[in-house]
Amino acid sequence: MLVHGQPYRTVWLEAGGESVEIIDQTLLPFAFKTVRLHSTAEVCHAIREMWVRGAGCIGATAAHGMYLAARECERDGLRGGSFDRALREKGRELCATRPTAVNLAWAVERQLAAVALVDSGVDKVTVAREMAREIADEDADFCRRIGEHGLDLIRGVFEAKGGKSPVNVLTHCNAGWLAFVDHGSATAPIYAAQAAGIPVHVWVDETRPRNQGARLTAWELGQQGVPHTVIVDNVGGHLMQHGKVDLVITGTDRTTYTGDVANKIGTYLKALAAQDNGVPFYVALPSSTFDWEIADGLAGIPIEERGGDEVAKIAGLANDTEIEVNLVAKGTPVANFAFDVTPARLVTGLITERGVCPASEAGIRSLFPEKAPSIARV
Ligand code: MRU
Repeated sequence: MLVHGQPYRTVWLEAGGESVEIIDQTLLPFAFKTVRLHSTAEVCHAIREMWVRGAGCIGATAAHGMYLAARECERDGLRGGSFDRALREKGRELCATRPTAVNLAWAVERQLAAVALVDSGVDKVTVAREMAREIADEDADFCRRIGEHGLDLIRGVFEAKGGKSPVNVLTHCNAGWLAFVDHGSATAPIYAAQAAGIPVHVWVDETRPRNQGARLTAWELGQQGVPHTVIVDNVGGHLMQHGKVDLVITGTDRTTYTGDVANKIGTYLKALAAQDNGVPFYVALPSSTFDWEIADGLAGIPIEERGGDEVAKIAGLANDTEIEVNLVAKGTPVANFAFDVTPARLVTGLITERGVCPASEAGIRSLFPEKAPSIARV
């Protein structure tokens, strides 16, 4: 998507293939800076410290990290089985960086399976490079298709409202292009509606504690010229009670094959408010975000707990410099759960690259009949 009018993706291989280039999302919206990562360790650091974040972007970055990992194995003179074992170990390191987004393990597994099919170290590196590109291209393409399917939903709402006034979409966190490779999941239908000439306005939850809504979603919608308004996290219910939200579209970091959705903390409360007010609640995801092994999201999805400083402090711009200030008295106990699970019963539908389906095992299988509920994990 556009940054100051220039098209960008969130992750790409620098021309010579020596390094992986990313956007440092921790600096947005106050500074736009790309960073080169040269090793598996640097990729792990970038994911753990959330320079890159969001399910699809984490997956694509990990896929590129596996390419750098393969180069390291080749440089160490490893061949055949010992190459594959060392690569699997580096894959484990990548998977340990963040627990909730399933795209990370999915991308690592896909790389391991592809690399194991060839023998020589040089060939394994070539395969890993090609697979990293394939995963990134596929993520971008799937998000574009999510946009096409979600556009039909937005068009339906627009016409039902009389075809004149803007469609008001509420979104939580950042499931925009920054959270993927391009287009985004929750934002893809919004961008598609904009391109189709349907007026859309987006309510953007600020999304404490890291403010991905205020800092990232608002910034990227602004770059694309989509009308939007940032609200604090507790406003959504009030807006829904007053008819100011036509539909909610969020992303997801992991969705069970039964339709339970793990997404940024606070999503569940929006789904409850949506149900109480008869507002459709959609979740947009590429199929890489399905977990084909877990049936019960509440029991099975690991919920990341992050450091307390993210709650106890807040960052912002003062005199052109980003500073952090304390929000609570020194020593105040805080807790920082990064995700919650929205049960399938609260989800109106899932918007995927293959179409929109009910959030149920039968609904998901109707679009993905070939998926068996078992993928080996690292
Ligand atoms: O902790 P983050 O920023 O990696 O969280 C991920 C998210 O941005 C959200 O949960 C998002 O809505 C789903 S990821 C496409």
